[in-house]
Amino acid sequence: MSKIRICNSAEIPTNGMKDYDIEGGLKVLIANAGDCYYAYQGICPHQEVCLAEGYYDGAVLTCHQHLWQWDITTGKALGLAEAPLEKYEVKVEDGEIFVLQSSALKAAQLFMDISDDTLQRLDQLACREEYESGSTLYNIGDPTDDLYILESGRVEFLIGRDGTSPAGFVLRKGEVFGWAALLEHQPRRIAKATCLEKSALLRLNGEETLKVLESDPASGYLVMRKLSTLITRHLGSPGEK
Ligand code: FES
Repeated sequence: MSKIRICNSAEIPTNGMKDYDIEGGLKVLIANAGDCYYAYQGICPHQEVCLAEGYYDGAVLTCHQHLWQWDITTGKALGLAEAPLEKYEVKVEDGEIFVLQSSALKAAQLFMDISDDTLQRLDQLACREEYESGSTLYNIGDPTDDLYILESGRVEFLIGRDGTSPAGFVLRKGEVFGWAALLEHQPRRIAKATCLEKSALLRLNGEETLKVLESDPASGYLVMRKLSTLITRHLGSPGEK
């Protein structure tokens, strides 16, 4: 887990918020609520909009674009919002605000709750790679050898044979894409993934990942259940997230 200095607490207005760009292309939003500070992803999980430009009353954060809202203490979605905010652990030391970042593999929903041993074996398989803004990671028709986990930066994921997603997904830290590498009889990509900014990724070979999961059926079952939810979400009808 890495500890990153963000700012001095005096920079954050009481019951106010401010965003910061940190190494690796990540934008972090720091919000104050009374005696507490909270840190979240700086970009709206709906579209590419800075949350610091939205509204915040000391309890509820509202994106000004389509009025999605979140509870500032938990990041849970409220009202119209269809996705929670990614929350970072905050430490305040001598008036300095730090965020603690866990590894992208640990943050990945797909691998949440699997055994420590299996997570460690997957960690050993993962190769960390950095890509410049505009890099195409894969295109429709490419072979499906590897899956990816976003560590930092932003990746646009366009799905469908016409190259458009149902709602224009922009992925965030810990999101897994290229999951066709875990499916049988799916040798070619049906989506395109492009870095919207300099991004760091973990790349795992699909076949090797499956071997690790097969050796721990309980963890493998959990991953497959989550994978089916992920696929349903990404292949949902137009208008769905
Ligand atoms: S861009 Fe934030 S709610 Fe739509």
